[in-house]
Amino acid sequence: MKILTLPGDGIGPEVTHEALRVMQAADRRFGLGLSFSEALIGGAAIDAHGVPLPETTLTAARGADAILLGAVGGPRWDGIERSLRPERGLLGIRAALGLFANLRPAILYPQLAAASALKPEVVAGLDILIVRELTGGIYFGEPRGIRVRADGEREGFNTDIYSESEIRRIGRVAFEAARKRGHRLCSVDKANVLEVTVLWREVMEELAPSYPDVELTHMYVDNAAMQLVRAPRQFDVVVTGNLFGDILSDAAAMLTGSIGMLPSASLDEHGKGLYEPVHGSAPDIAGQGKANPLAAILSAAMLLRYSAGMGEAAAAIELAVGQVLDAGLRTADIHTAGMQLADTTAMGEAVCAALG
Ligand code: IPM
Ligand code: MG
Repeated sequence: MKILTLPGDGIGPEVTHEALRVMQAADRRFGLGLSFSEALIGGAAIDAHGVPLPETTLTAARGADAILLGAVGGPRWDGIERSLRPERGLLGIRAALGLFANLRPAILYPQLAAASALKPEVVAGLDILIVRELTGGIYFGEPRGIRVRADGEREGFNTDIYSESEIRRIGRVAFEAARKRGHRLCSVDKANVLEVTVLWREVMEELAPSYPDVELTHMYVDNAAMQLVRAPRQFDVVVTGNLFGDILSDAAAMLTGSIGMLPSASLDEHGKGLYEPVHGSAPDIAGQGKANPLAAILSAAMLLRYSAGMGEAAAAIELAVGQVLDAGLRTADIHTAGMQLADTTAMGEAVCAALG
């Protein structure tokens, strides 16, 4: 099992380092036979090679069985031309590897109920899976750009476009996921305004008869945003397009106490995947040992489960995270009164120790 790590920028390297140590600890305990290599992406790649996704990185990614990514971007590269920004590296690798299915579970660890922005009784037991389409929609649609009109005024434009096969394949992933969970799927769109999502809704409806055990509902994205913070436990699996999924998954993250807790998997048709914490590069706290490595560590657990079929090791990592939280260890983002403040390294070490 060849695992490529792409630490990236900001807090990416710090949290990836802890996730790597946890995978090595799991490897020792379970004899998984993992091998690791590392490559550059994002701003780190721009600094070294002038591009956010060097060919060498793409080759290494194609040769790996799974990829663990930290985060990309930061103010240092904000001035760079749009097509060479760090984020392009991330969007580029998702597209190049066909990683269309982005799974973002938002689970509330009961130990963190007090850290949630919502009342404990609203979020207790929260367990949502957001399935975000990741290689289509407005993030990739053409034409796009900023142009100058004949009258001299500038205008920016993007294209929100989905083919029915793109909708169908993400729909299937979501129905299958719902089947393994609570058997409820909510498809989020803006079908009252956007034609692209009228088609989205139609295709979801066409799929439904193949999954009679799953209850399909639809919700407009504005209402979904409200429902997520009003009564989030009404959701089991949510499926939506690239843009809405980006936004709703950040909102769902905060329900769990901190975006520092949220892992994600981005899978291709064959289950090969790139795993990354949902949080970004957080340049404001980079290099200070303040970052929460648990989202990266939980992403590593997802990697072992989905791309390596090592469910037992994945469950052991998730259990170890629970034990560390039980013991009262907290990074700053999830710290509440009476808990022990831990830095990034201490948190990673504690998970390794709990893993045995
Ligand atoms: C995410 C991020 C990325 C996205 C950015 C960094 C390009 O926000 O993974 O949610 O928009 O997909
Ligand atoms: Mg995002």
